[in-house]
Amino acid sequence: MQVLDIDPFRDEFIADPWRELTQIREAGPVVRLPMYDVYAVSRHEDVVHVLRDSQGFSSAAGVGYVNVKKDRPWRAPSIVLEVDKPLHSHTRRVISQVLSDTALRSLEPEFDRRAAELVDELVDRRDFDAVADLARRYPTDVFGDAVGLPPGDRAKALEYGAMAFAGNGPPNAEFQRAAADVDGVARWVSEQCRRSALTSTGFGAQLYRAADRGLITEDDAALLVRSLLSAGLDTTVSALAFAVMRFATNPEQWDLLRQDPALIQNAVEEVIRIEAPFLMFFRTTSGPQEVSGVKIPAETKVLVFIGGAGRDPRKWERPDDFDVRRDTSGHVGFGYGIHRCVGQALARVELRSILSAMAARVTRWTLTGDATYECHNTLRTLSSLPVTVESAPALVRAATIGGGRG
Ligand code: HEM
Repeated sequence: MQVLDIDPFRDEFIADPWRELTQIREAGPVVRLPMYDVYAVSRHEDVVHVLRDSQGFSSAAGVGYVNVKKDRPWRAPSIVLEVDKPLHSHTRRVISQVLSDTALRSLEPEFDRRAAELVDELVDRRDFDAVADLARRYPTDVFGDAVGLPPGDRAKALEYGAMAFAGNGPPNAEFQRAAADVDGVARWVSEQCRRSALTSTGFGAQLYRAADRGLITEDDAALLVRSLLSAGLDTTVSALAFAVMRFATNPEQWDLLRQDPALIQNAVEEVIRIEAPFLMFFRTTSGPQEVSGVKIPAETKVLVFIGGAGRDPRKWERPDDFDVRRDTSGHVGFGYGIHRCVGQALARVELRSILSAMAARVTRWTLTGDATYECHNTLRTLSSLPVTVESAPALVRAATIGGGRG
């Protein structure tokens, strides 16, 4: 087995991981990264193998670098993401019911209306920062309301998410940076997760109603609201920011989308495949395992490179090309197996709403400055993306695009 002297938790790696991910992927189905004493998989087939075998490759020792069965984690582990069957099946069922298709369908008109309103405002401004003014603002508003957060300093939820994703990595400088105010931010989050702080109609209140029905405890309900906040915001912000960056740098793809808004759904998948916002996370072997003929000892952390699978030439033709018409089925950007993202349908609604509103008004994106990357150990995102837009009048939207969506 190849041993590689690569640090995947360096900011430079996370911002632009593709060259070194190719090196890792081509070195073999499983490699060892001695810097952290972990194994890693990055080929599509092997990533799927590991994620499919949730008993052999357990999440219960944490999906981060720290083995939470041996060492104290920085926060209580998630009761959905960091548990195995049968516990997982139970909490997953509760959270899935709350995020049901019917619940999401009822949110769509409001998400669409608010996306159109925001895009109209930004088109009037012409110059703006696609991260601060769009990618962070929209999900913080609509997702925050859907969960039932009280109005106020919702930016703290983004800080908490950054801390959670950074906390999945080793205790390096990035984690120290993200966790500078760990007590303050964690206190803020637990206050938001209390029943009394939440509106009576959001996902949060519904999780508490599951507690009233005896399906989970009140403490579990608070932890599941926390799961929504940790996993649901920074990921969507990242995907939105990368979507704008991709369309600004691939104007012919934007033209395709405008000509055929039915491509919007597939464009969302393509952004997630190629950019992999949740770039990597861990599993821990529960006993000796074998992946594509390579043996991995028991109780070993295995780094799962979602970003590697998304660009594996064994699975994808021209993997580094952004192509809204490609067949994206089988991408693992939302995970795979029992822990596949429970919020993916909601994320899709948010991303589609914004892309539809933008396709109706924006004819051309131009970057007016460099993108600034933000790296939270396991999450890739942007902190700034200055853009200017050319636009069609709002009237044209009704006539030509008709609010169409994929
Ligand atoms: C573009 C946006 C998103 C991306 C790329 C993404 C990605 C992922 C991935 C890769 C996993 C699997 C992790 C693992 O197997 O260890 C996951 C799980 C999860 N995601 Fe998402 N996610 C997104 C949006 C959301 C949203 C909006 C929510 C909340 C509404 C959410 C809540 C969760 C939860 C609770 C889990 C754990 C599920 C389980 O363990 O059964 N995510 N996500």
